[in-house]
Amino acid sequence: MKKFTVILSMMLALMLALTGCVSSTNNNGNTGNTSSQGNNTEEGTNEEATNEQESGEVNLYTSRHYEADQALYKKFEEETGIKVNVVEGKGEELMERLNIEGEATEADVYITADAGNLHQAKERELLQAVESDVLAENIPEKLRDVDNHWFGLTKRARVIVYDKERVSPEELSTYEALTEPEWKDRVVVRSSENMYNMSLLASFIDIMGRDQAKEWAQGIADNMARDPEGGDRDQAKAVVAGEADVAIMNTYYIGVMLNGIDEEEKKVAENVGVFFPNQETTGTHINISGAGVTKHAKNKENAIKFIEFLSGEEAQGQFAEANSEYPVNANVEPSELLKSWGEFKEQDINLSKLGENQQEAIRIFNEVGWK
Ligand SMILES: [Fe+2]
Repeated sequence: MKKFTVILSMMLALMLALTGCVSSTNNNGNTGNTSSQGNNTEEGTNEEATNEQESGEVNLYTSRHYEADQALYKKFEEETGIKVNVVEGKGEELMERLNIEGEATEADVYITADAGNLHQAKERELLQAVESDVLAENIPEKLRDVDNHWFGLTKRARVIVYDKERVSPEELSTYEALTEPEWKDRVVVRSSENMYNMSLLASFIDIMGRDQAKEWAQGIADNMARDPEGGDRDQAKAVVAGEADVAIMNTYYIGVMLNGIDEEEKKVAENVGVFFPNQETTGTHINISGAGVTKHAKNKENAIKFIEFLSGEEAQGQFAEANSEYPVNANVEPSELLKSWGEFKEQDINLSKLGENQQEAIRIFNEVGWK
């Protein structure tokens, strides 16, 4: 028993070391000052402390790490007087940390990418249900957990990216068409261990049933130009390098490459086209990054206010643009780049399905030998 406790505390210490330190946006600038109204009253009162206590704080674990996000947290502090404390880390590590910390956790909000990850956090009882009219209004139903444990905040599409010189968009139609013999040795896509691919296949299991979803996975595995390697960006690079003609990948990586400082990546992004598959049929696969209130949140009301703020019109454009994602709030327009790719029809399924079908998707990937 004693041994177990020692091991547990060692693990906790390791996790804390791994996932970095807590930072408040207040450290970066002179914002979040909640006491300005009280300063000219009496000297020697502790008005400042009282105000801070009243508005309090919210503690965030997030796998997002963009400057634009930081600017938004500051904005939230200015508007509400609620201090935002941020811990950044990898989504899975933060989830593990939440799990180890249990009731003792300081985290009130967990933000991570992929509905599959958010579903996992829900299944592990790390999140709690939230009732909010604002969230129900701002976020379409299919982008929210069926039990309100998590809420989509930004949206991404998993599309077909093609080499503009060698492939014409007229040759493209659906995800399924990429399994035809004409695409033999011409397709690249990352490993099946990646959550985005699990979610893609999970959506097909829901839409076309297990047998057909397996046929699709088999067909793609058969048509791969190489064994899966690298991330989404590496698939675009392989296409431009001539290793393959098309890649299955997320739209926002094209935006990230175009807006980044790496000249080579910029060139790659300029040389590929974005094609939204299944427009005449079941729609293009979409996924989200999203947020949930943690099960043991000490500042639940502030946590809800914070997520509501991020779903609002003011925050949505900026929040999504930081990573070239689509806003979830229908009143907010996407960035110019995203608009230049055109509007598209989305898969019409509740994203909870991506999590629910995840294990089945992993089994199929193993069965068909998609590495
Ligand atoms: Fe990503």
